[in-house]
Amino acid sequence: MGSTKDEVQVSYDVSNEFFRLWLDERMNYTCGVFEGTDNLEEAQVKKLNVIHDFAKITPEKRVLDIGCGWGANIEFLAMDKGVKDVNGVTLSSAQFEEIQRRNVPGVTAECVNFFDYEPKEKFDALTSICMIEHVASPEEARNGRAVDLYRRYFKRAHELTNPGAYFGLQTILRNFVPRTKKDIQDIGWVTYKIFPGGITPRMEDIVMGVNPYWEVVEVKTRREDYGKTCWHWRDRLRKNETLIREKWGNEVFDDYDRYLSTCVTAFDKHYQSLAQWSLRRID
Ligand SMILES: C[S@@+](CC[C@H](N)C(=O)[O-])C[C@H]1O[C@@H](n2cnc3c(N)ncnc32)[C@H](O)[C@@H]1O
Repeated sequence: MGSTKDEVQVSYDVSNEFFRLWLDERMNYTCGVFEGTDNLEEAQVKKLNVIHDFAKITPEKRVLDIGCGWGANIEFLAMDKGVKDVNGVTLSSAQFEEIQRRNVPGVTAECVNFFDYEPKEKFDALTSICMIEHVASPEEARNGRAVDLYRRYFKRAHELTNPGAYFGLQTILRNFVPRTKKDIQDIGWVTYKIFPGGITPRMEDIVMGVNPYWEVVEVKTRREDYGKTCWHWRDRLRKNETLIREKWGNEVFDDYDRYLSTCVTAFDKHYQSLAQWSLRRID
């Protein structure tokens, strides 16, 4: 169901050093918010603030970040927002190693599948920044199973929370099928080669999937922000071309250049978009 651990490793375990070369310094691997800035580092902090506010997080709340990557958001919550009990789950061993290396006080992480995660206590707030793209595979979506799989994810999120909890969620959106042969081929290639086992959800699938567990309080779309984020990532990747070709080989550089170029086009042409959601637990 969705990406397996082996498939997640294809997406995130190329090498932490490789991703550090072209992500922001906190290593957010998701869309930033370019409001009043063209700077990637600032845009990523603005994004983390939006998700923090959408989840109504305060320092005394116990928080879980589902699909926590290399730890950008959990570190931000603990260090910048003073949250004392921050928890994260990732399915990537390389990301988990990086979180352990950072060793941030107040942060606990596990390398576990979210659906198998059994925390000791429930949470007062949830965040999840672009993990739901791994919850249904292209085949499952094609067979009409995506909404059921998203509902299973939102049900589990509900089970893990206390009454009154809010959930700050970020998701890529699959808006419509590309209009040219090249764009169809490129997006298909990114889906199967770079993010195997996953597919970006449609907005209406999320709206249906949250029921009957979460109420949508607010949604903000940010298609252009994701286009800009991918542009910055590709710019940094290209500035490190020689080093990347030497250390990881031509295929890694060429694949990541093609993938990020495909994303720049996909957001520009509205094939894909991005949404940030504030969800309130239905009690
Ligand atoms: C695109 S990355 C986003 C990481 C991070 N939230 C960020 O903003 O940089 C997707 C994350 O979801 C995690 N993930 C995917 N499937 C998962 C699962 N079943 N259980 C836990 N984590 C999962 C991956 O390991 C990865 O950390």
